[in-house]
Amino acid sequence: MIGNFTYCNPTKLYFGKNALESLNSELSKYGKKVLLVYGGGSIKRNGIYDKVIALLEANGKTVFEDAGVMPNPTIEKVKEGVARARAAKADLILAVGGGSVCDYAKAVSVSVNCDEDIWEKYFIRFEDVSCEIVPVGCVLTMVGTGSEMNGGSVITNHDEKLKIGHVFGENVFPKFAILNPEFTFTLPKYQMISGIYDIMSHILEQYFSGTDDNTSDYLSEGLLRSLIHSANIAVEDPLDYEARSNIMWTATWALNTLIAKGKTTDWMVHMLGQAVGAYTDATHGMTLSAVTMPYYRYILPYGTAKFARYAINVWGVEPANKTEEEIACEGLDRMEAWMKKLGLVMHLTDLGATREMLDGMVKSTLTKDGGYKVLDETDIRAVLSASF
Ligand code: NZQ
Ligand code: ZN
Repeated sequence: MIGNFTYCNPTKLYFGKNALESLNSELSKYGKKVLLVYGGGSIKRNGIYDKVIALLEANGKTVFEDAGVMPNPTIEKVKEGVARARAAKADLILAVGGGSVCDYAKAVSVSVNCDEDIWEKYFIRFEDVSCEIVPVGCVLTMVGTGSEMNGGSVITNHDEKLKIGHVFGENVFPKFAILNPEFTFTLPKYQMISGIYDIMSHILEQYFSGTDDNTSDYLSEGLLRSLIHSANIAVEDPLDYEARSNIMWTATWALNTLIAKGKTTDWMVHMLGQAVGAYTDATHGMTLSAVTMPYYRYILPYGTAKFARYAINVWGVEPANKTEEEIACEGLDRMEAWMKKLGLVMHLTDLGATREMLDGMVKSTLTKDGGYKVLDETDIRAVLSASF
């Protein structure tokens, strides 16, 4: 453990088959007016909408709706949501959906009482919130992002060809999050495996950095082993409650700030994936899977010892009579084979990306300095090129 840190996660989390009933006790803490935020209609088709509305009505709430939050929510849509929340004088924003709906709710939350240009303030200048927020609660229906228990909010600006995340402070974390694994059973397989890979990527972004002996890395290895095991079951039988519940809980721990404590973190797979997302609007987890192998093979020489540890502790590579580099490479080979078996997208072309987009994607990639190598434009171009 190297760093000094403060740890606090204020989100109250309700997990399990009866978790939605907890809305009764949570709703009693807020005023009458609720802005119900959701996506393109999956919650109407699978019955979650009716259950939520019944609970809101039973608790005497006046419900204002903000539907149609798209995957990879846009800044235009956020501004529309802000106008709705202002008009409703919302006391609570209830997000029912996946990471996109939760992220969007947080972006609206911090903007309702803000007079500044919210794109510039939060997503370009990364400024703190300087106004009163509207509290957010979340009923999660798609697993992956960890948005249910963190301050992250990722918003896309198509005009500027940028997809950028702001990690807001504890006051913006959802006040409560309701997680019923059964609510995820209706997810199409493409979304389920995309979410599984998002979880894996979150853990790896926080694992592949630093050379210190850090408790967080041991936690990460355990989370990864659980995720791989449960993913293998879920991909064969998506209705396996045990596997789906383990995946849901792992997703939350993968990005609720715990495993980043006391260590440096990387996040370059996400920076590359977000640049791809800005150009293709592709499904988040698949943008990550498509760039992962080229990126990790590119940085392996700079962090060989950690990649070897990963190979042994997560993928069960037998180290005897092998060099550190051989062990590390074998680990990545096993990971790649597993990704392909799961059905993840491994090439940018399968996401609609073209070579003509390359220059733009290179420019849209933000760089971070916490990983094993700080990438320059040449490195970014090499990694993205190898992803086609
Ligand atoms: O819009 P509806 O009709 O609800 O359909 C959604 C959407 O099309 C569907 N879906 C959700 N729950 C369902 C369901 N379909 C059937 N049954 C259900 N139970 O799934 C599709 C994808 O939903 P979305 O919310 O976009 O997925 P996800 O949870 O992966 O969220 C992705 C967004 O989160 C951001 C991503 O960049 C992306 O914008 N991220 C947020 C992070 C955070 N807050 O910390 C970190 C992540 O790295 C990520 O960047
Ligand atoms: Zn992610």
